[in-house]
Amino acid sequence: MDLSTTFMGIKIANPLIVSSSGLTGTADKVKECADAGAGAVVLKSLFEEQIVTGKDTIISQDDMYFWYPQAIDFVNNFSKGEGIGTYLRLIEAAKKSVSIPVMASINCVTPWEWPRFAADIEKSGADGIELNIFIPPTNINLTGYKIEETYMDIIHEVRKNVEIPIAVKVGFYFTSLYRTLYKISNLDINSLVLFNRYFRPDIDIDNMRVVAQNAFSSPHEITLTLRWIALLYGKINKELIAATGIHDYQGVIKQILAGATAVQICSTLYKNGVSYVGTLLDGIRDWMTRKGYENLDSFRGLVARNEENTAAFERVQFMRKNTGA
Ligand SMILES: Cc1cc2nc3c(=O)[nH]c(=O)nc-3n(C[C@H](O)[C@H](O)[C@H](O)COP(=O)(O)O)c2cc1C
Repeated sequence: MDLSTTFMGIKIANPLIVSSSGLTGTADKVKECADAGAGAVVLKSLFEEQIVTGKDTIISQDDMYFWYPQAIDFVNNFSKGEGIGTYLRLIEAAKKSVSIPVMASINCVTPWEWPRFAADIEKSGADGIELNIFIPPTNINLTGYKIEETYMDIIHEVRKNVEIPIAVKVGFYFTSLYRTLYKISNLDINSLVLFNRYFRPDIDIDNMRVVAQNAFSSPHEITLTLRWIALLYGKINKELIAATGIHDYQGVIKQILAGATAVQICSTLYKNGVSYVGTLLDGIRDWMTRKGYENLDSFRGLVARNEENTAAFERVQFMRKNTGA
């Protein structure tokens, strides 16, 4: 049975990619992912603030920094060179410790500062770069169009600086999601990673403080990605990599039936341990054996291709026929 597929155009042995997070923040952790059977890993993101402000300890200091881009006070004083240097050493060490593809990840909010460092990332041996772009839509003077343009500018700038493949990981906060993803897919990139899941602050009503307790996704969150992978399948000429809410082997199969080339997993590994990759692979193989499939291509997009199903994925209003209510 052949579980191989691609990520950023590079062949990977199976569709399970450990997504950018604390799970991929050190070479030892990356090795753990590879030993568990992951097809590829995306390293923890290097944050634009780390370059702009010259602060670098956040990679190891606190995963939650990712969700608080403005929380500069988390960060100690380090020079710009040290910030990027720490990350380049992580890439080199990770590459030495495993034979699966190792992708770097950069969190970017502007096209100015960090694309210049993309070439260093390439030189350090990363097999590809995932751009984790999020421009918070919280500025009243910033139009939707301007925000979308900034995404395009960032991608252009990176492409100018590197030859390795590029994946673009985005959230779904766009006025015209389809159009934006279509425009991004027409740039010189290899994969679209849909969708990132951002921190969702909550309030502790006893202490009246904001708390970070929703860091991990739940399995029911898979449906948002499932819908968009299915709607984009066959219409966008780039790899669609599904992310968010994939917690079990059934989730992986669903995403491939919707048209995903591969999937990224994170929360389920935090909850079940990295060795859970093996359990997921066993589940996929068992299902394929039961259904008589020998490779992923034989069932990729099968459900999305059916026009009746497209109508179901486009539907947003509940109807009695669907809900029985
Ligand atoms: C603790 C933690 C740290 C994360 N750090 C990053 C990061 O540095 N860069 C990034 O692109 N995504 C980051 N993410 C998002 C994950 O890569 C993933 O896209 C998200 O959790 C949705 O996938 P899941 O439902 O499998 O968890 C992080 C997620 C968690 C839970």
